[in-house]
Amino acid sequence: MRYQRHVFVCTQERPAGGKPSCGGRGGVALCGALQREVARRDDLVGVVAVTPCGCLGPCFDGPNLVVYPEGVWLAGATEADVAEIVGYLAGGPVPARLRWDGADGDDDDDDDDDDDGAGGGER
Ligand code: FES
Repeated sequence: MRYQRHVFVCTQERPAGGKPSCGGRGGVALCGALQREVARRDDLVGVVAVTPCGCLGPCFDGPNLVVYPEGVWLAGATEADVAEIVGYLAGGPVPARLRWDGADGDDDDDDDDDDDGAGGGER
């Protein structure tokens, strides 16, 4: 099966007290809610895949997800945003208030502790 869109949702977990991680801030719940909603919709089953992943890079802005093939990044997403995100996955507009373009070029994430095994490293 070849999906038209693939959503990677950061579910990275880290110990409390250090750099924030998406999993502990709602990323795990967000990923599960997206998977359930996609599975519920006949127009998205087999068309969109939702996969949990390790750190995507902009940890301080999470929970984060990225949608391919477009390469659209969304940040600060929660379960409350699932309907809007799924609307986008079904052909609607990108949720503008969640869109992350890394425009400031600095997420204060310069410690390079790439402990996640995810491709692409941290930004
Ligand atoms: S922990 Fe989610 S982007 Fe780094």
